[in-house]
Amino acid sequence: MNIQIKIDGEWGIVKSTQGEIKFSIDNDGISVFEIFVIKKRCGIGTALIEKLEDFCLHRINIRQITVPSTPSRQALSFWLAKGYNYVFPEDSDIGYTILNSQDPEKIEDTNSGIILLRKIVKNHH
Ligand SMILES: CC(C)(COP(=O)(O)OP(=O)(O)OC[C@H]1O[C@@H](n2cnc3c(N)ncnc32)[C@H](O)[C@@H]1OP(=O)(O)O)[C@@H](O)C(=O)NCCC(=O)NCCS
Repeated sequence: MNIQIKIDGEWGIVKSTQGEIKFSIDNDGISVFEIFVIKKRCGIGTALIEKLEDFCLHRINIRQITVPSTPSRQALSFWLAKGYNYVFPEDSDIGYTILNSQDPEKIEDTNSGIILLRKIVKNHH
């Protein structure tokens, strides 16, 4: 799969014909604000996020990726499988409910409407 990263100031996009990730770059990390794939469960999301993590490894001042995840089983399962963790430990209870919900597309209610997840891609030297 041909995947490209384009950066325009503080905005960026990981793009392929199969899907994309839109993100912003702030002080010491990246915030993902949109991810979608044209066909689910085929490894496309994995390929896109790996490209973004690889980009982070090569940028000195970027050490983490933060994701305001949709509180759905599909989205949460994906991010947890990719090594992202709850920023707020108390979200793990609602996470448990979401992961055990019957409908993979159903979006659970949370106070903020999202579940914040994060992966440290690089430790400071
Ligand atoms: C979330 C999303 C980007 C994942 O992309 P994807 O290409 O389907 O994910 P992958 O095929 O790379 O899956 C990687 C792993 O994540 C986990 N995973 C992904 N979707 C899952 C699901 N519906 N249920 C359980 N686990 C899931 C699995 O561990 C999977 O590995 P496996 O297929 O070998 O078991 C995709 O489902 C999507 O576009 N959803 C609609 C938009 C959306 O919800 N965006 C999220 C906003 S934060």
